[in-house]
Amino acid sequence: MEIILAKSAGFCFGVDRALKKVYDGLGNEPIYTYGPIIHNTQVVEELASKGVKVIHDLSELGHLPHGKVVIRSHGISKNEQDLISSSGFGMIEATCPYVKTIHKCVEKASKKGHHIIIVGNKNHPEVTGIKGWCQQPVYIIEDITQIDEIPFDSNIVYEVVAQTTFNLGLYQEILIRLQKLNFHVIINETICKATQERQKEALEIAKNVDVMLVIGSKHSSNTIKLYEICKEQCEHTYHIESIEEFELKVLNGHSVIGITAGASTPKKLIKEVISNVRNAE
Ligand code: F3S
Repeated sequence: MEIILAKSAGFCFGVDRALKKVYDGLGNEPIYTYGPIIHNTQVVEELASKGVKVIHDLSELGHLPHGKVVIRSHGISKNEQDLISSSGFGMIEATCPYVKTIHKCVEKASKKGHHIIIVGNKNHPEVTGIKGWCQQPVYIIEDITQIDEIPFDSNIVYEVVAQTTFNLGLYQEILIRLQKLNFHVIINETICKATQERQKEALEIAKNVDVMLVIGSKHSSNTIKLYEICKEQCEHTYHIESIEEFELKVLNGHSVIGITAGASTPKKLIKEVISNVRNAE
C-alpha cells in the first residue's frame, strides 16, 4: 500500500504561534483562553491540566480571579477587545496576523464609507470578529445565490474580504459574479496562503488516490473545506478526528491512500493515522 501524505498537513503558522504564546504565558497568573485555543480536545485538555481555563463569555471575567485572557488566532471584535482592556485583565494577543490584516482592512474601508462584503461562514468566530471591526453595513455570504441579498446601488463601493480559510475557487466565482452584476467592488485577497496551499495540495493528492483521509476536528471549518474539496475528487474520502473512529477494513482492496490534515491537527494524531494505515497492509 502506498501512502501519500500532504506536506502541508497539520498546524499552520497562526495556530502554532497562538499555542506558543499560551505556553509562554504560563506562570503565576491564571490564563484564560477566550474560546478553545484550537479545535483539538487533546491539546485543550493538556492546557487545562496546566491551569489554562477556557471561557466562552466575557461576562465570566466578572467572577474569576484576575489573570490574562488569550485572544486565539481567529481574532475577536473591537467591542470584545475593548471589554477585555477595560476589565483590568491582561491580554495575550494571539490573533493570526493574517486575520488582523482583515480587521484593519475593513476598519479602514468603513472610514471611507465603503460597505463590506465578507465571504465566509456567518457563524464562524473569525467572521463574527471581522464583522465587529466594520462600521458600515456588512453583508456576509458564503455562496453565489446569496449575492441576491446584497442591495445593488451603483453609488456604493463594496469592499470584499474572505474568511482566511474560505475555498479559493468559490471566492473567485463569487467575485466574478459580483463584477458581472456591475457591483462596484474593491477586492481583497485575504485567503491565507497556507490555506490555499493546503487546499491545492489536497486536491492534487485526492485526484490520484483510492482513499483520502482528512484528519481534523468536525468543528474545524478549514478541515471541513478540505474534506469537501477532496470528496469532489475522490469518492472514498473520510473526515476523521482520530484513527479510533476509522474502520481500517475500509482500506481493503485499495492500494493508494492519501492523507491530509487541518490547520489545528497535532502531528501526533497524523502520525498515529499513518502508522495504523501502514499496519493495516
Ligand atoms: Fe492564520 Fe492562515 Fe492559520 S490565517 S491561523 S495562518 S490558516
